[in-house]
Amino acid sequence: MITIIRDARGEIRYFVLASKEAGYIISLHKGRILSHYHFGAAFTPCAAGPVPLAPPQGFGVAEERGDTSYSLHRLAQEYPWGLGGDFRSPAFAAETPRGAPCMELAYRRHRITRSWPDLDGLPLPDPESGEEVETLELDLEDPVTGLSVTLLYTPFPTGGAFLRAARFSNGGTEPLIIRRALSFSLDLPLRGPGLEVLATEGGWARERVLERRPLGRGRLEFGSRRGVSGHGGSPALLLAEAGSGEDSGEVIGATLLYSGDWIMAVERAEDETVRFQGGLHPELFAWHLLPGETFASPAALLAHSTVGLGGISEVFHRAARRLMPASWRDRERPVLLNSWEACYFDYDEKRLLELARGAKELGAELFVLDDGWFGRRDNDCSSLGDWRANPRKIPGGLGTLADKVRALGLGFGLWIEPEAVSPDSDLFRTHPDWALALPGREPAEGRNQFILDLSRPEVAAFIENAVRSVLAEAKPDYVKWDMNRPFSRSGGVSMQGELRHRYLLALYGILRRITRDHPETLFEGCAGGGGRMDFGMIPFFPQFWASDNTDAAFRASIQHASSLLFPPAALGAHISASPNHQTGRHASLASRALCAFGGSLGLELDPERMSKEDQRKTREFVERYKARRALIQFGKQRRLLSPYEGGDAAFASVAQDRSRAFAVWLRLRALPNPAPVALRIPGLEDRAVYRVSTQDIGGFQPFEATGSELSSRGILFAPPLGEDPAAASFDIERLSA
Ligand code: GLA
Repeated sequence: MITIIRDARGEIRYFVLASKEAGYIISLHKGRILSHYHFGAAFTPCAAGPVPLAPPQGFGVAEERGDTSYSLHRLAQEYPWGLGGDFRSPAFAAETPRGAPCMELAYRRHRITRSWPDLDGLPLPDPESGEEVETLELDLEDPVTGLSVTLLYTPFPTGGAFLRAARFSNGGTEPLIIRRALSFSLDLPLRGPGLEVLATEGGWARERVLERRPLGRGRLEFGSRRGVSGHGGSPALLLAEAGSGEDSGEVIGATLLYSGDWIMAVERAEDETVRFQGGLHPELFAWHLLPGETFASPAALLAHSTVGLGGISEVFHRAARRLMPASWRDRERPVLLNSWEACYFDYDEKRLLELARGAKELGAELFVLDDGWFGRRDNDCSSLGDWRANPRKIPGGLGTLADKVRALGLGFGLWIEPEAVSPDSDLFRTHPDWALALPGREPAEGRNQFILDLSRPEVAAFIENAVRSVLAEAKPDYVKWDMNRPFSRSGGVSMQGELRHRYLLALYGILRRITRDHPETLFEGCAGGGGRMDFGMIPFFPQFWASDNTDAAFRASIQHASSLLFPPAALGAHISASPNHQTGRHASLASRALCAFGGSLGLELDPERMSKEDQRKTREFVERYKARRALIQFGKQRRLLSPYEGGDAAFASVAQDRSRAFAVWLRLRALPNPAPVALRIPGLEDRAVYRVSTQDIGGFQPFEATGSELSSRGILFAPPLGEDPAAASFDIERLSA
């Protein structure tokens, strides 16, 4: 909901936005200065409320001649500009070709529209009939250069969150160069000492290593310069009240609906105000805006919760579900078996069909043919770009293979990496200039491949057609869309500072058209694991391959950090072989399986190399998963124990109607002579009685307890012995209301 509050003279005082329990309030000062007033629990300010607090400071600057009552450095702002008396980081920077800066943005007018903002094809939720959405548009103008910036705010319909973005228009007579165009800037008053920052960093196979630290003075910045959002994590940052836990404390979070270079930064100034910003990474970015042109920043999603990290995750999970394509939002994901770790590049049709038969025996519902089916690809050195099946491996072509797999009672899925080209490929031999490269310099290979210049319309058209013809032939039920290298030495037909953004605009267009035309196909996003797993991709990829690392002892922490933003249905999680292919670690089947129960289950196994006993147990786990699938994928997922804070990880799914829950516990570091463990299950109905049982611990006596007992005392159990990692799961069923 959006309301405007005016004073007794009819002048606008506040723009008030509410997204269920969360509120965002902007105040208008002197009729032209936008000042941030509040982001947090929703309330309605009084028309005769306080004027913004911005006392002048020693060694400071009075912004206006004749008015020493305020300084911009002390004012909480909505979209700060640089080169004035605010010495913190600005939200944007732009200039004329002769270097005259754009600044002094002043409020001019506003509009409220009944739609999502228009962001030139950048990711947004699909508009839906019947849904009430409002967007507040605030126009700001620099009278000297003619730059105008429209700030866009949309209360997110799933609650607790707001979408923010900025649109730049050149209303002047000279071209402008935009060097910085953040999606949001949020000034939190006097919050410095009590805040902690939660952010992730990481790399391939060690995605999203979570770190929580007190917010020190100065500026702390995270981001990606890789051209993809990166294995370090999504463009996101959380600010939590010190000491807040899963169920308590105020938490603010932001993430971008964007998949390329990004920053998230937080700046604690000397007066304890905190500036929180995020958007396009400004370093490699420069956009030329001709008179009359506009440029839209990616959208940011700002989330708020007063009930801790669990609360903010729920806000993000609901928003993520809303962002998914409608056909997959509430649809159970199939249990799949992926061929990659079973046979890598080494297979023929006979081998694939044996693998598919084995997959069926293990209870899988879909068989995924991973890398290696096209061109002459027998290793990762060739053929990307030549998207025709290799007749030696698949003589009858993809369509025939898919039919044979379907005849076994399985869905058919396919891997593809459309944005890449191998130097050893027919495509590259025909169009060497289609690969990103800097003129006069040697291009750099990453995983022996180049990236195609999607910013060229003919290249984008080639990619779209290539994918469409593969889809037409194989009619896959599932597609794993991969992207296996970062950008480097990348140049193309677009200007350097525009290239990466133009690449993404083209990619989003291709993905939007293809996924809309194939709503029944489940598209899983992958970039060497979780290298491009972000809210910008969710509208096309309702599921991600979170990491190539399936070693439960590590994977548990990747899933823990991923779950801060992503709901379980969005995370592909596979049971893989022991010893693990990435770490060489031996792990119990129970731990590998139950860890994978934290997301959408898949198998990365070769049944032929498994003992009969492991096959039987795996089949049992798959059946157990299927019986709880709706609960796991669409229940409220809660983190119970953090793998970052000890040797145990635990998580639970609680049904939306609280009638049941399912909890998983993993002991990642074996302990001799272990003490009993207590697993507290939040979110059940306090007075209802539940029955607790397990299939994983011999001798465990099922018992009954109320919801409040389970959330305060918890389930106490003696850890199972003899398996490493030890693992157990618990079913919690409501008996009475
Ligand atoms: C990436 C993916 C893997 C697999 C390989 C195939 O690394 O993350 O799961 O698909 O590519 O080359």
